Amino acid sequence: MHDSGLEGVISSEGLARSSASVSELLTILPQQSHATSDGLLKLSFSHELECIPRPVSVSLFVDASPGCGGLAWPAGQILANYLVQKGPKYLENKNILELGSGTGLVGLAIGAFSGMKIWITDQAPLLSIMNCNIRLNRLESSVVAAELNWGSPIPANIPRPDIILAADCVYFEPAFPLLVQTLSDLSDSTTDILFCYKKRRKADKRFFAILKKKFEWKEVLDDPHRHIYNRESITMIRLLRRSNNL
Ligand SMILES: C[S@@+](CC[C@H](N)C(=O)[O-])C[C@H]1O[C@@H](n2cnc3c(N)ncnc32)[C@H](O)[C@@H]1O
Repeated sequence: MHDSGLEGVISSEGLARSSASVSELLTILPQQSHATSDGLLKLSFSHELECIPRPVSVSLFVDASPGCGGLAWPAGQILANYLVQKGPKYLENKNILELGSGTGLVGLAIGAFSGMKIWITDQAPLLSIMNCNIRLNRLESSVVAAELNWGSPIPANIPRPDIILAADCVYFEPAFPLLVQTLSDLSDSTTDILFCYKKRRKADKRFFAILKKKFEWKEVLDDPHRHIYNRESITMIRLLRRSNNL
């Protein structure tokens, strides 16, 4: 379980201290193994459900060259793990859109559940890694990669989502208002938005100050692992679009 690849991602987050909480965090992240030295990562999500393959496995090509999104970040692994544990019922017949998908990890982890279409989106340099990972997991029929730049108009080919997913998207201050704008453009009061983030610096507060104008939020409490990742400053929240903006 203490795989060097995972340690690598965690260490780039500044988490690789020899602390008890990091060891605990490693126990809840999906099992990982580097199949080869060429950047192919295998993630296995174990769960108790009868209706989906056990474990749910995702092959992930990771590559830091297109930017930070080319790696699998802990918040993405935590959100993917939460959705796998919840199982297909929550996602059935929903249009699902992930923002800042990077490698596509979260969308790919739920891509094999039936009855839904998932849009994994990011900036143009990440499109080839997302498409490569869709093909690698043979999910062409359920997962679509698309360019979606926060703050830009939503491309006409992207349908309005019922569920929006976002992991580790709060890290670059100039992008804060752009991300809030896109969340707002894509949602109404019925949209379910799951947002998993890591608090890194004081400036992150500014994101929540901007967010507050259009959204309320509450912590997701039904993840039994939350006490472990909370200790590493990772939190999962559900955003609710305000009907009357402040
Ligand atoms: C830290 S990575 C997280 C990637 C992935 N969600 C995960 O958890 O592994 C943040 C992602 O946000 C994307 N991103 C940053 N600014 C963006 C913008 N203005 N428009 C769209 N995506 C953006 C990056 O390209 C990157 O893939």
